[in-house]
Amino acid sequence: MLSWRVDAHAAIDSTNEEARRQAEASAAEGLCVTALTQTAGRGRRGRAWESPEGNLFASLLLRPKVSAAEAAKLGFLTSLAVTEAVDEVAPRLTPRLACKWPNDVLLDGAKLSGILLESRTRADAGIDFVVVGIGVNLAWAPAGTPYPATSLKLHGVTIPPRGFLPVLLARYGAWYARWQEEGFAPVREAWLKRAQGIGRPVVVRLPDKELHGIFAALDETGALLLDQPDGGRQAVTAGDVFPAT
Ligand code: BTN
Repeated sequence: MLSWRVDAHAAIDSTNEEARRQAEASAAEGLCVTALTQTAGRGRRGRAWESPEGNLFASLLLRPKVSAAEAAKLGFLTSLAVTEAVDEVAPRLTPRLACKWPNDVLLDGAKLSGILLESRTRADAGIDFVVVGIGVNLAWAPAGTPYPATSLKLHGVTIPPRGFLPVLLARYGAWYARWQEEGFAPVREAWLKRAQGIGRPVVVRLPDKELHGIFAALDETGALLLDQPDGGRQAVTAGDVFPAT
């Protein structure tokens, strides 16, 4: 099992950026960079990630000996670890938590956590390192986001980042070990049990178009399988998923 080394900052540009800097300076796997606040927090697709004190901002440095395609599946494992950490600190919320493809965690259908994977690949297509950035809205939720957001505090749960982090790291370590020993299959199975929108109509927003269909399954590469109105099945590897209205 990984033993974590926590590098805690009061304020930083981005914990992902700091973990990347340390990775490029040869830091070993197991580093966890945290900050109480970020001045340049970043989200997926080049979006900013608002980072007020009270929420969790953490970035994990991993060096799995796998291809880039395999490492991309770490997002599912991360969503599970976050979901299970919330299960542990607030068991009454368990039935209301869900994993949203590809790697958000929802509470009552609103975004509670976002995950940003950034990696450096070697010339032989193996992974040099992956930085797994995790933001959890413990105390505060942004307004006006493309997907509505929520926080644990809005649901009556008060927990500081220093209380949530050890629970998350323990869950993460367990899932990471299992993924390394058994591969993606158990992660996929556990993720599907908690997946938002399986079997329901969804809209997938891509930069240049929208795809409509039924969220049929998750394949063994981590792609969302979309059954389209023309009878075709499309594997979607990137995009934002919304319930069809
Ligand atoms: C998303 O867009 O949903 C992903 C958000 C990821 C935010 C986290 S907060 C900790 C880490 N540092 C960053 O700058 N981003 C990630």
